[in-house]
Amino acid sequence: MSDAVPDPELFDKVVNLCKRRGFVFPSAEIYGGFRSTYDYGPVGVLMLRNVKDAWWRSMVQLRHDVVGLDASILSPPQVWEASGHLQNFSDPLVDCRNCGARHRLDNLDDPDQCPTCGMKGQFTEPRQFNLMFKTQAGPVDGAGADAYLRPETAQGMFINFANVLNTSRKKPPFGIAQIGKSFRNEITPGNFVFRTREFEQMEMEFFVPPNESQKWYEYWCNERLQWYIDHGIDPSLLMLRPHDADELSHYSSATADVEFMFPWGWGELEGIANRGDYDLTQHATHSGAKLEYYDQAANERYVPHVIEPAAGATRTMMAFLMAAYDEETVNDDTRLVLRLHHRIAPFKVAVLPLSKKDELRGPALDVFAMISDRYQADYDETQAIGRRYRRQDEIGTPYCVTFDFDSLEDQAVTIRERDSMEQVRLPISDVMGWLAEHLG
Ligand code: GAP
Repeated sequence: MSDAVPDPELFDKVVNLCKRRGFVFPSAEIYGGFRSTYDYGPVGVLMLRNVKDAWWRSMVQLRHDVVGLDASILSPPQVWEASGHLQNFSDPLVDCRNCGARHRLDNLDDPDQCPTCGMKGQFTEPRQFNLMFKTQAGPVDGAGADAYLRPETAQGMFINFANVLNTSRKKPPFGIAQIGKSFRNEITPGNFVFRTREFEQMEMEFFVPPNESQKWYEYWCNERLQWYIDHGIDPSLLMLRPHDADELSHYSSATADVEFMFPWGWGELEGIANRGDYDLTQHATHSGAKLEYYDQAANERYVPHVIEPAAGATRTMMAFLMAAYDEETVNDDTRLVLRLHHRIAPFKVAVLPLSKKDELRGPALDVFAMISDRYQADYDETQAIGRRYRRQDEIGTPYCVTFDFDSLEDQAVTIRERDSMEQVRLPISDVMGWLAEHLG
């Protein structure tokens, strides 16, 4: 067990940095904001994309046994009837008769006392509140028009199981991966982008022969924990926590969470669940489709079991920001630096001409064009060079390339490394090779 402890001050520091440097803005801010929704700014959109690309690279690109999918967000009630979400995907709510506040019963320290007004014994009977967003498809209201915004991407993989099996030439064990938006009408959204009503998930359904499910469950628990470590999160800030029996979702026979030490304590980043044959069986029963695999060699038909690593992209981005945030004293000054893994960092390189005079701008832009063809790069020519370095440190850019007046003569540039602040001078013709060595 890790001895990491929460750092409550980190929360405001990261939220402020996100606003100040263009990672994340409160949505509809000019109208006073809108209920725990957020917009990803110029730097945040790059970082979020990098989180998703890093996941896709590990889960699809580098694997021969996983294929991708992009299923629709809108879906008919039948999908959610079969999945169990219409019946089970709800939280118990109570209203306080004294002050009118509404609370999630399972979140209360004292189930008899209202945390808003302090009165005891004033709660109504609990009511189940379904977390799915319901809407209508087409202009006519009424039967047949009901639709739901998906509360998880997972069902897209189950209802396309036969399509993928028939077209991809894969056989169990194999997986279907998807990244996309999900929507939940959370009763208690909060902690910045940790829990929002609109968020992005990165989920993979791994279909296996039933007798191999425990082996693959353990495999994916280890793989997924390691993924966060490989992308720069210190292992002491992570743990794998198996669920107790009373915590398990309606579909799961075993689940473990990858948890991260957030500023308020341990919190879930990802769940790895053994879903058994629940989903395929449910959809086969409700739709009448055959959702099974015929193993020719053994001449047997079976419903594969499913191991599901399900992560949140937006929540994971927040964890990367918190794990990377660092302040150090340099020359009696505080240097704020995001020590992000280069795969996750919004920009890999920043090109900084020493001055914005035309004689430097032209050739510096040529260097930018050369680098940005291969790597996401920033170009910044305003303010003193020291301040520009600090700005890049704050958004986690691993390398700054400075084009100065000597560069006009020697056709060389200075490369500054973010964490050590060490500098090397290199011929421009060697820059791409050097970056390839350091960034891949
Ligand atoms: N298909 C299984 C499933 O959806 P989940 O634990 O409910 O499992 C998976 O969600 C991941 O999605 C969570 O570990 C979390 O990272 C992310 N997630 C879930 N609800 C979220 C919310 N309201 N806001 C942000 N991320 C959320």
